[in-house]
Amino acid sequence: MIDISKAGTFKLGGHSVQRIGYGAMQLAGPGVFGPPKDRDGAIAVLREAVANGVNHIDTSDFYGPHVTNQIIREALHPYPSDLVIVTKIGARRGADASWNPAFSADELTTAVHDNLRNLGLETLDIVNLRSMFGIHGPAEGSLEAPLTALAELQRQGLVRHIGLSNVTPAQIAEGHTICEIVCVQNLYNIAHRDDDALIDDLARDGIAYVPFFPLGGFTPLQSAELSGVAQELHATPMQVALAWLLQRAPNMLLIPGTSSVRHLRENLDAANLTLPAEALRALNHIANSHAPH
Ligand SMILES: NC(=O)c1ccc[n+]([C@@H]2O[C@H](COP(=O)([O-])OP(=O)(O)OC[C@H]3O[C@@H](n4cnc5c(N)ncnc54)[C@H](OP(=O)(O)O)[C@@H]3O)[C@@H](O)[C@H]2O)c1
Repeated sequence: MIDISKAGTFKLGGHSVQRIGYGAMQLAGPGVFGPPKDRDGAIAVLREAVANGVNHIDTSDFYGPHVTNQIIREALHPYPSDLVIVTKIGARRGADASWNPAFSADELTTAVHDNLRNLGLETLDIVNLRSMFGIHGPAEGSLEAPLTALAELQRQGLVRHIGLSNVTPAQIAEGHTICEIVCVQNLYNIAHRDDDALIDDLARDGIAYVPFFPLGGFTPLQSAELSGVAQELHATPMQVALAWLLQRAPNMLLIPGTSSVRHLRENLDAANLTLPAEALRALNHIANSHAPH
């Protein structure tokens, strides 16, 4: 057993969750499309995560599509009472694996029902509305219509809490005028720190910040500084990247993704790594060296 409790907990929606969770996107096939090569392996990863105390899993019915949620259900249903499954809606996959906006009230309603059916739930704990104004990063545009539709599904009892993903501060402010926003999920890691100010604002408001691509995503992070610090601390570069996020802000909840039990254990053990001040100083250079010139 790996003790992940040292990383602490944070309130997400109505629940207190461990600050190290798990992101399930890597459990679908290549390009997050179709079934995985090793379905039993995917089930083993999910069971290992929960066995080690993970009680926050991030997913979407557009991973696969449907595949990842069906694997979560097969691996973990009936779910432990403390498990918070966070899903996201707002996109649909084309037959060519493309990611397309799906923001109409009808599409959002279908997406909620798809998630309920494939996860085997009567109510979704938390649903993130994933903005598709920009596919690869936040872009301005009003979320009023889709968020109002999602808030209506919340009123109907199909959704407990609402979050936002791939959004700007202006969109979060707009969101607060429509419904309570309990979490924000944007791209952020030790090398990509556009949301530094936003994270501090959300921390002040008690809102969870859940970075996606915490390890760099499809191309995991690589840097001399990261490797150097990892060597000094007898840790791995990925553990250092996760420990850095944990130390960055108290409202930071991690959902590193992996299809490997070995990587999962390595990532969970980042809860037990404390970065000394000189390591933090060295690691700050990573963001600076990635800053736009
Ligand atoms: N809201 C959004 O728009 C959005 C977008 C993307 C992702 N997400 C969510 O965020 C979660 C995390 O993002 P992610 O999974 O894409 O990226 P990530 O966590 O940054 O990195 C995953 C990649 O790192 C590798 N990896 C993981 N642990 C490793 C380790 N210890 N050593 C070496 N390589 C390791 C994985 O490969 P292996 O499988 O080989 O370990 C995979 O290629 C997703 O699972 C998903 O739930 C949300």
